[in-house]
Amino acid sequence: MSSRKPVPLTPEEIQKMRTVCQMAARVLNHTGKFVREGITTNELDLIADDFTKSIGGTSACIGYHGYPKATCISVNDVVCHGLPSEYKIKTGDILNIDVTVKKDGFYGDNSKTFACGVISPLATDLVDTAFKAMMIGIEAITPNGYTGDIGFETNKFVTRKGYTTVKEIGGHGIGKIFHGDPFVPAFGKRGRGERIIPWTCFTVEPMVNEGVDSFDEFDIPNSSVKYYRTTDRKLSAQFEHTVLITDTGYEILTIE
Ligand code: MF3
Ligand code: CO
Ligand code: CO
Repeated sequence: MSSRKPVPLTPEEIQKMRTVCQMAARVLNHTGKFVREGITTNELDLIADDFTKSIGGTSACIGYHGYPKATCISVNDVVCHGLPSEYKIKTGDILNIDVTVKKDGFYGDNSKTFACGVISPLATDLVDTAFKAMMIGIEAITPNGYTGDIGFETNKFVTRKGYTTVKEIGGHGIGKIFHGDPFVPAFGKRGRGERIIPWTCFTVEPMVNEGVDSFDEFDIPNSSVKYYRTTDRKLSAQFEHTVLITDTGYEILTIE
């Protein structure tokens, strides 16, 4: 029986996580190079899927709870799980591309928010804040600490900038399963939440909204996965890394 509970990985399993996470980072960076005015999100999705196959991986999102695409591409007010479509990216758009690769039974998950051409000063600041929010969250990791330590620092930073964090969706345990425990919130209290266990992996993926933290839910045909848009239709930005918890700290795995 497979459990959602995090179990410390063996050295061999850690090596597999390093490999798949590096692949996920390569796919994300490769795909991001094609962001330009006029490209459709379906075209970006195909680029990601083709490159994933070319390096010997599979796109984990395809068929996940009926999800039909290789990536999630969330444009402007889409918070996450944006479904690639015939939408043409235009100058001034921000778009999060979220790539999860599977290889040798392990998952690597990462995302970045890209800009198409020149974007507004506000969008620039929001994207910059989302990146820093992720890094500040990662830096708050201590082995045998708590997920609330991560969320506390993330939310403090974001709210001081005048933005909000999404509360209901967040990071997750990852390894032999795509989504497991712990839940890694972008808000919280120090010393609360779930224990951070050495030699396990999870993602840190705060969603940062320009306006309100609430969102509306939308169906994806033939899938139980939903996508979300900010209630006020203002911008949302996100970055995601998969990290390995060590006995002395952490290692960011989704780096080329
Ligand atoms: N990669 C997303 C995450 O960060 C999950 C996407 S699941 C999908 O957890 F089905 F929508 F692709
Ligand atoms: Co994730
Ligand atoms: Co992801």
